[in-house]
Amino acid sequence: MNNAVAPSENKPTASPVPSPRLAALWKRGTDFFGCPLAIMAGAMTWVSERNLVAAISNAGGFGVLACGSMTPQLLDAEIKATQTLTKKPFGVNLITMHPQLLELVAVCAANNVSHVVLAGGIPPTEAIKQAKAFAKVICFAPAVVLAKRMVKNGADAIVIEGAEAGGHIGPVSTSVLAQEILPVVRDVPVFVAGGIGRGEAVVSYLEMGAAGVQMGTRFVCATESIAHPNFKKAFIRANARDAMPSVQFDKRFPVIPVRALQNDGTEEFMETQRRVVEKFTRGELDMTAAQLEIEHFWAGALRRAVIDGDVERGSLMAGQSVGMVTREEPVTSIMAELIQQAEAALTARN
Ligand SMILES: Cc1cc2nc3c(=O)[nH]c(=O)nc-3n(C[C@H](O)[C@H](O)[C@H](O)COP(=O)(O)O)c2cc1C
Repeated sequence: MNNAVAPSENKPTASPVPSPRLAALWKRGTDFFGCPLAIMAGAMTWVSERNLVAAISNAGGFGVLACGSMTPQLLDAEIKATQTLTKKPFGVNLITMHPQLLELVAVCAANNVSHVVLAGGIPPTEAIKQAKAFAKVICFAPAVVLAKRMVKNGADAIVIEGAEAGGHIGPVSTSVLAQEILPVVRDVPVFVAGGIGRGEAVVSYLEMGAAGVQMGTRFVCATESIAHPNFKKAFIRANARDAMPSVQFDKRFPVIPVRALQNDGTEEFMETQRRVVEKFTRGELDMTAAQLEIEHFWAGALRRAVIDGDVERGSLMAGQSVGMVTREEPVTSIMAELIQQAEAALTARN
């Protein structure tokens, strides 16, 4: 692969201003975030760092820092650095299984973070409680019953993320989750994520009752994103069908589904699972050691792809909306296009 990224065709534009009609439709979301566009840029580990997050918030959307596996010290530095690049609100995404979750929440408190997103599993009640003391808390809910439970536990907003999304995914599509959850969960704002690439889709979810949307894949190739040119180029080349969930080889050894572009690593992962299962069958590995070997395969792989540009063996996490990513362009251009599509969809409804 050569390293060149398609040059930006669009110059940065001013932050888009939504029409009164669009502003009214997503008012619940914009009030919740405190920004003019109810478009949250889903946190993406290694991608959603200070530059992209500040660019999203400066363009009127809601940027979210991805903490990933950062230590509390690194998160503290990243929040402070982001605050020097934007005075607009942004959130911090914490992964619930991080061993220092409560210390990370304390770092957010010390830096006056306004919104904390608790991702990657059902958040401990204590983490919600501590985050709520200083911030609005956003949780992910993959089903109605969990959404209701999280609201009861104190979540101020819910994200529903369908299987079309990039990264770790559940089994149910965005359109089905939206139909199941939006009419039922009305106490808090609900944001829809997964497979959204255009403004028409944003409008349709707003009309179904969403307060706004969360998008990840669409922002990876923003000019302001520090993702390696190889990573961006892989996105620009890819079609929707190239973004596939990881496959489990043997039902005794669970693999958490991750949607990513297929590459040599995908094939090696299957081969590794096959080899490990054989070793287990021959009694050379016990169950725990075998499971660990499978889980360790992708360790550090997202960093290798996003930062080092190893698109053959790294993890190319991407959602199905990757087919709608066609060039590198500034965040303001992406936002302007989304708003223009949303406005056109609304006008067409007259
Ligand atoms: C490269 C990549 C990394 C991601 N990392 C995270 C993460 O660290 N935490 C998280 O909650 N979601 C993560 N996600 C999911 C996004 O935040 C977002 O919910 C998702 O991309 C939305 O679906 P879309 O890709 O179809 O727009 C990641 C997605 C991608 C593509």
